[in-house]
Amino acid sequence: MDAKDSKEKIFIFDTTLRDGEQAAGSHLGSLEKLEIAKQLARLKIDVLEVGFPASSPEDFKAVQLISQEIDGPIICALSRAVKEDIDSCSKALAPAKNKRIHTGIGVSPIHMERKLKKSKDEVLRLAIEAVKHAKQYTKDVEFYAEDATRADPKFLCTVLQAVIEAGATVVNIPDTTGYAMPEIYGKLIALIKKQVPNIKKAIISVHCHNDLGLAVANSLAGLRNGARQIECTMNGIGERAGNAALEEIVMAILTQKDYFKASPKIQTKELYRTSHLVSHALGMAVPRNKAIVGSNAFAHSSGIHVDGILKDRLTYEIINPEEIGITQSRVILTARTGRHGLKHRLKELGYPPFSQERLEKVYERFLEIADRKAMIYDEDLVSIMESEIDTFPKTYSLEFLQIISGTDAVPTATVKIKKVENGKETLTLESALGDGPVDAAYKAIDKATGLEIKLTDYNIRALTSGGSAMGEVVVNVSQKGKKVFGHGGSTDVVEASALAYVNGINKLVNKTE
Ligand code: KIV
Ligand code: ZN
Repeated sequence: MDAKDSKEKIFIFDTTLRDGEQAAGSHLGSLEKLEIAKQLARLKIDVLEVGFPASSPEDFKAVQLISQEIDGPIICALSRAVKEDIDSCSKALAPAKNKRIHTGIGVSPIHMERKLKKSKDEVLRLAIEAVKHAKQYTKDVEFYAEDATRADPKFLCTVLQAVIEAGATVVNIPDTTGYAMPEIYGKLIALIKKQVPNIKKAIISVHCHNDLGLAVANSLAGLRNGARQIECTMNGIGERAGNAALEEIVMAILTQKDYFKASPKIQTKELYRTSHLVSHALGMAVPRNKAIVGSNAFAHSSGIHVDGILKDRLTYEIINPEEIGITQSRVILTARTGRHGLKHRLKELGYPPFSQERLEKVYERFLEIADRKAMIYDEDLVSIMESEIDTFPKTYSLEFLQIISGTDAVPTATVKIKKVENGKETLTLESALGDGPVDAAYKAIDKATGLEIKLTDYNIRALTSGGSAMGEVVVNVSQKGKKVFGHGGSTDVVEASALAYVNGINKLVNKTE
């Protein structure tokens, strides 16, 4: 959906790579962040908040890399109201064509007294100084009044007036703890519009958390009352219960354009793919019943509903699934589909053109799966493509896996692991017993790699229905304080589990902290 008929410009600010990523339990590498940023740019996001450079060298690198590579959206980085943090944002954002520094401080009594241990006057001074400091580096400075919904509204308005005076071009009113009710949050935005004398010089932004399941409702209430920027994340990921879900915000506004008198300029056809990519990269599965992007979001099961849909889909559907990039025509590929056919279907699914070398790799994996599964659905292709975007070197790969298991057998796994290091290739064959086939496979991999890996979480799901469905496994693994996710997909769930484990190991051994 293109917002040609936009009534009023509103800005979508995506913080998947900052607020979303900080909550995922494992941090993305800079190349992984770059892949997601590229997809968010295809969605035509207005502002991309991509990290907190002062938090780690890896985050600094990610902000710098995205600033170099991504053209189009404003690239934004977060800081506390601390000069060194702001300097770090400025350095990391240096290559960006359009950049924004997002700085701020807590303004509620609990944040000022208990966390910051500072008086109102000190907080006000630090807020002004931070904005002035950031303003030396870029004209686009956003100020966040952390925990705004639990602040004294009078003090909040004083801070906002002062930071706008100091040069803030956007003022963010976060519901940091997800405490607000839609009507009350809407009234707060209306009050700010009315009471802050210089508010016309800035855009009001909303940033709502989902602790009470109201992040989207609160953000939309803010929009109705004068906010012009909405901060959100793909699939609603973020601190604790998450942030407002980008796909829900965008589709709600577009479905009710007349009510909101606004229309975001988002390429909605990219929503579904972006959701998959983020879910895959962060190892956070999208619930089946998740609005807009859940696998059941457009599935009709009751007889009455199916009957209605067959007569006219508008009886039970308010959004055409094609608008968010779900293709209606299900094309099924097989092992006889050639490279050309595969390339054509990937193009239809919206994947950007890729090199011959990458096509060969994707085709190789496609044939492996097609040989076992006969029919390859779009979901399978998405899974194959997702494993292809992994940017970590494949130091270890699973060459061979054999499992002995059964009601009367002690689960035993034999693996052959290839290691490629400094151009040198070694093959190691190892066997191990385990509590089950997956445990045995993991123990055998540990023996073959000689690494001590801790498995902290394991999730499996079927990508399609039926006996030959592809299983997708996501594992959470750690080593020496580093934590990452690993993914693997196969028609054989033990193989998918082993691939996920090896994928996690590759990330661990190649991750720089
Ligand atoms: O929730 C919050 O208050 C934030 C700020 C740092 C913008 O994420
Ligand atoms: Zn937040």
